[in-house]
Amino acid sequence: MSLRAFACTIFLAGLILLPGCETMSAFIRADGTLDCQALYARRCSQCHALYAPSDYTDGEWVSKVNRYGPRAGVAPEYRPALIAWLQGSN
Ligand code: HEC
Repeated sequence: MSLRAFACTIFLAGLILLPGCETMSAFIRADGTLDCQALYARRCSQCHALYAPSDYTDGEWVSKVNRYGPRAGVAPEYRPALIAWLQGSN
């Protein structure tokens, strides 16, 4: 790969990855914790109405978040916190 092609690839990867990082940062509180309620309300309501945490069991939320998290742009490192929040709110 030429240097130019390499630089171009890095640039394009940045364009794709950066918006995701920036928008996730909107859900990080000043103390560094994740505002799961805001994340869930905004990201998981883009395609359908929100499901109540009580609609699913703890185990079901694990598979739901793993299935829909990628579509909602919830980065993998934030999914366990979102799952725990959904489980704790039901
Ligand atoms: C890109 C669109 C999209 C986003 C964003 C999205 N969903 Fe969904 N979701 C769907 C679709 C489509 C269905 C209907 C599934 C079907 O029956 O085909 C669905 C259904 C569901 C269901 C019903 C049960 C099921 O599995 O069918 C749950 C629960 C759910 N979504 C949770 C979530 C959560 C949690 C998030 C956020 C992490 C989320 N969704 C974000 C598209 C989305």
